[in-house]
Amino acid sequence: MRNEAEVPMSDTPFTIPVADRLKRLPPYLFGRINKLKYQKRVAGIDVIDLGMGNPTDAPDPMITEKMIEALADPKNHRYSVANGIANLRKEIAARYMRRYGVHLNPDDEAIACLGSKEGFSHMCLALMGPGDTAIVPAPTFPIHTYSVMLASGNVIQLDVREPEKFLENVAYTCEHLFPKPKLVIVNFPHNPSGTCIEQDFYVELVRLAKKYKFMVISDFAYADIAFDGYKSPSFLATPGALDVGVELTTMSKGFSMAGWRIGFCCGNREMVRALATIKGYYDYGIFQAIQIAAIVAMRHCEEAVDSIAKEYEGRRDVLVEGLNRNGWDVIKPRAGMFVWAKIPEPWAQMGSIDFSMKLLDEAGVAVSPGRGFGDEGEGFLRLALVENPQRLRQAVRAIARCLRPEAAAAAG
Ligand SMILES: Cc1ncc(COP(=O)(O)O)c(C=O)c1O
Repeated sequence: MRNEAEVPMSDTPFTIPVADRLKRLPPYLFGRINKLKYQKRVAGIDVIDLGMGNPTDAPDPMITEKMIEALADPKNHRYSVANGIANLRKEIAARYMRRYGVHLNPDDEAIACLGSKEGFSHMCLALMGPGDTAIVPAPTFPIHTYSVMLASGNVIQLDVREPEKFLENVAYTCEHLFPKPKLVIVNFPHNPSGTCIEQDFYVELVRLAKKYKFMVISDFAYADIAFDGYKSPSFLATPGALDVGVELTTMSKGFSMAGWRIGFCCGNREMVRALATIKGYYDYGIFQAIQIAAIVAMRHCEEAVDSIAKEYEGRRDVLVEGLNRNGWDVIKPRAGMFVWAKIPEPWAQMGSIDFSMKLLDEAGVAVSPGRGFGDEGEGFLRLALVENPQRLRQAVRAIARCLRPEAAAAAG
């Protein structure tokens, strides 16, 4: 028998002792669906993928041409600056003025981020800590909840699908919780539910923020994609908003530049400074050629943004009208990249995860189960408008055939 000292080091079991904060994260709910999607693809089976809001359209050629030109310049290959180059910050300030009449000082009220998700999560890290509580939207885009949890904060989820009730619940929570919430996160147009608001929502939110002394982060990722003449209001366009909060915007959606990783955090200068402090330690800024191309995009490509929004509007009509012709009861969203669809009877009892598995397995259509966005999402599916109208019609037909073979002819 060997004594302990003789056990070779390579035989000693060793478990990586990850930080407790990682243990606060839930099991990954999309695992089964992603595995099946992968198996189908490997087997050469066509999957119509409406699972993720990952734009498939190319950016305007003027943007890619500028990128190629900037790539050829050796000085753009050095580290850039963590906050974004001055001309880029000026350009986002100019865009806010043009679109929303908001005056921002590009020196200290705007910062560029490696996509809005990076800005959002690091802002939570800059603001939240043990004992702090944030109110987050439910159903929830996962990063809204988990950025707070990764920053060791506590989360209270409030349903946003009735925005007035959400505001009443924010006030109620602030009256009854001690210590009071430190931060309220909002996201309109909302992912996943597609809920939209008008400017008066923010007027009340700013009033509550000042009364109860909480900060606000507005995730305005779908600012550029609105339909039927609706214009999504900016939180920052509300009087007093710059006293209490910031807003995150992105070039991922409206400019179809998701892989480029470029977004912005604008608003309250102390909050912007807090994010800049974190970023100063964590990164050296976005690749400079991307920043230069982004300036050109914002300066010259607004028409392309409008035509991308029109394209999503057409896809929305095809998908919603097609599903409704087949007995679904889906409301057309006024903005965003998603259709939030109530699972029709008798399938609702199945639960959104199993129902999504059925659609993937039997119809070859991948969607996101509502349960992936928390308990409030159960009973719903989120379908991303990332395929062209022809593929969406094909998806509607395949879903109809899978659920009610006899009625498939009505799919159109
Ligand atoms: C609500 C919301 N916020 C933020 C993001 C992240 O966008 P970005 O590509 O700018 O990081 C997304 C992306 O899907 C989103 O849906």
